[in-house]
Amino acid sequence: MLYDRVVRPALFRADPESAHDAVVGLLSILQRLPVGRRFLSLAAGSEPPDGALLETEVSGLKFPNPVGLAAGFDKDCRLAGILPALGFGFLELGSITLRPQPGNPRPRLFRVVESGAIINRMGFNGDGVFSAAERMKAFGRGSVPVGLNIGLNRDCPQERAPAEYAETFRILEPYGDYFAVNVSSPNTPGLRALQDRLQLERILKAIGDANKTRKPLLVKIDPDMADEHLCDLAALVSSAASGMIVSNTTLSRDGVPEAWAGIQGGLSGQPLAGRSTRLVARVFELTGGRLPIVGVGGIFTGADAYAKIRAGASLVQLYTGLVYGGPGAVNRIRAELAECLKRDGFKNIMEAVGK
Ligand SMILES: Cc1cc2nc3c(=O)[nH]c(=O)nc-3n(C[C@H](O)[C@H](O)[C@H](O)COP(=O)(O)O)c2cc1C
Repeated sequence: MLYDRVVRPALFRADPESAHDAVVGLLSILQRLPVGRRFLSLAAGSEPPDGALLETEVSGLKFPNPVGLAAGFDKDCRLAGILPALGFGFLELGSITLRPQPGNPRPRLFRVVESGAIINRMGFNGDGVFSAAERMKAFGRGSVPVGLNIGLNRDCPQERAPAEYAETFRILEPYGDYFAVNVSSPNTPGLRALQDRLQLERILKAIGDANKTRKPLLVKIDPDMADEHLCDLAALVSSAASGMIVSNTTLSRDGVPEAWAGIQGGLSGQPLAGRSTRLVARVFELTGGRLPIVGVGGIFTGADAYAKIRAGASLVQLYTGLVYGGPGAVNRIRAELAECLKRDGFKNIMEAVGK
């Protein structure tokens, strides 16, 4: 309520990236204060008493609930200690690149308020892998699983991509519970071409060779590829990785007013929801339900999360829904999701996956 009436209007008056930086700054301060976590938990509203209903296990990892933070909110791994206070069952931090880089020139983040959407062309701005590793080392073990999402520097030639992904992975390996390979951001020229079967095979092989501790490895895909390509990828990922994150942002401008058609970048939020849910269902079908899927795109409510779970996602994530819904978003989604499960007679979230 307070967020809808006061905080969001104030934040939305500011330039989107400045608002984001202010929120990250505030969360960093809270993380350092002894009462910071408690304070944020209060702002996030009461944790729903979902108990065992939402607990799940995927790729050998235990999750207190299936609602996670999507990559891009905390690219530099600054907030791993405080973000679980928002009710998340897991976090995905990054994308992290081998070398620091500034990303694209500003403005590069846009709110499409009338559509519940965001367009971004950040371009993997970040401090690079050594800073991320140092922060994760200082943070230690968290209360929920943490995934680390790996991207690629803009200046990396295609033929060096497998080596650079593997090197970034090697440095981060001790600090992530799972890893996501981002080959689907639309904001690094040539990155999506790495979803080509042969290219991706080389990347997964290089990371696989570096993966001495057998950490789960997920591939994050774009929602704009043709079905034949998806069939190819589903087969490859089933044999060379542990799961798929479906999906990254879209280049489509369906569902946003015409005026936004010319703004470059990836679109997230409500206009992406149906597209990504259909893709989750397709991957589930193609892999016979055997490949773990993380469903992401336009989750604002428990019903949105439930639709992705019924389509075949074992876990879900959100980013844009958090921007629009505020600190209470995750606990609200969890409570609504629990209601959906109870209504349909499921005793645990795992029973509903792909049903
Ligand atoms: C501002 C912004 C930055 C993002 N940065 C990344 C990123 O660095 N790596 C990544 O894999 N996805 C990134 N994403 C994509 C999200 O993780 C997610 O896949 C997408 O936004 C769809 O989910 P949503 O509709 O809940 O936002 C970013 C999204 C936004 C809005």
